[in-house]
Amino acid sequence: MKRRIRIIGIFLIVAMLALPSFSHAKAKKGLLVYDTGYGSTSEVAYWIKAIIGVENHLDVKRLAQVLTLKPYDYVIIGSHTRNEKPSEATYKFVETNQNELAKKEIAYFLTCGDNDETMILKTPGSEPHTIAGRNYLLDIIEKFPTIKPVVIGGFGGRQVAPTLGTKDSLFMWLLSKLAKEGVPWEGLDIWESLIIERVEVFANEIRTKILGIPPRKDVEKYRGYWTSLQPANLKDPTKVKFKPKPFNEHHSTDRIFFTRSRIKGSLDEAIALLKTWSTQTGIDLREQQKSSFNVYYQAVKTYDGNELTTNVVAATFPEDPGNVHISFRSYDKPDERKGAEEDITKAETILWAEGRKVEGEKRQTISEILSYGE
Ligand SMILES: Cc1cc2nc3c(=O)[nH]c(=O)nc-3n(C[C@H](O)[C@H](O)[C@H](O)COP(=O)(O)O)c2cc1C
Repeated sequence: MKRRIRIIGIFLIVAMLALPSFSHAKAKKGLLVYDTGYGSTSEVAYWIKAIIGVENHLDVKRLAQVLTLKPYDYVIIGSHTRNEKPSEATYKFVETNQNELAKKEIAYFLTCGDNDETMILKTPGSEPHTIAGRNYLLDIIEKFPTIKPVVIGGFGGRQVAPTLGTKDSLFMWLLSKLAKEGVPWEGLDIWESLIIERVEVFANEIRTKILGIPPRKDVEKYRGYWTSLQPANLKDPTKVKFKPKPFNEHHSTDRIFFTRSRIKGSLDEAIALLKTWSTQTGIDLREQQKSSFNVYYQAVKTYDGNELTTNVVAATFPEDPGNVHISFRSYDKPDERKGAEEDITKAETILWAEGRKVEGEKRQTISEILSYGE
């Protein structure tokens, strides 16, 4: 009898000792590792940590501070953008650690200048291609296919013109000369393109998809990690650092015919409507890129003996759930592209029918975004 009591006692003590460490072992441990050129990515890193919550273990380290990934269940990899990609050092880090990373839950994010994932860049000597936001992550995801990110985010970022290094300054100047649609940082000392809600949605996705805990709805109180009293221009107080890009745009210049609008629905529904348009107009819709958040087609048709290409991108955005944004771009000369312009108008008639067009520039509030689909 005494022996049995002793055994039960020992069992209870062992169970009591094991219990806290068991529950501790279950809580996932994370590492957010990032690279920055001028500091904005650091601010975003700590902002994400704040939303994930100090009660959830998340080490935040620059690339050079990381010795091992062994202690972590999940890794968030963040970078600034250089030449349409995460930094070289970020690639190197992922390459060196790919076997270890492949065993863990991963998220990628980047800060960047261009945040509109319906954007196409066409510069001399290169094929038109998608740029901005999460588009910049597609290459690293493709290059390291054993690493399958659970969450990705392309937020926009910040550029402080007077503090850029000489080479970087020159690069930005050259880009502004090449951009067919002008550049938004013209005349600004500080230019910001970061979409605040994207960071909030991203951090909440880490909570729900990786940590299995509810999203944090009180996210607005953490915005101080990003916003500051720094002016957009030291000499001109009327200038603003951040100007949201219009959802509905239409312009026609010698260099480009460009329209952008948004409709209610999913990406798949938008794709079906674009296919209906191509059948009705005899357009050959050639898919160039398809991702979880966007699709890029070259719409090819011969007008008056000239084969012309219209660039069409449909994209969904974390800050605008339930809607799809669609852009059309023709880079041909105004007198050559008349037929293409008419076909773009026909596309919009199909896309906007049955009350699908979302008029105006109203943005969803963070509570609307976070409660979408509930
Ligand atoms: C030389 C240079 C190249 C850049 N290249 C791109 C680019 O290809 N695409 C883009 O969207 N942003 C680009 N950016 C913008 C930065 O990625 C963006 O400002 C970012 O927020 C900077 O982060 P950091 O402050 O952490 O360095 C570039 C900036 C510089 C200075």
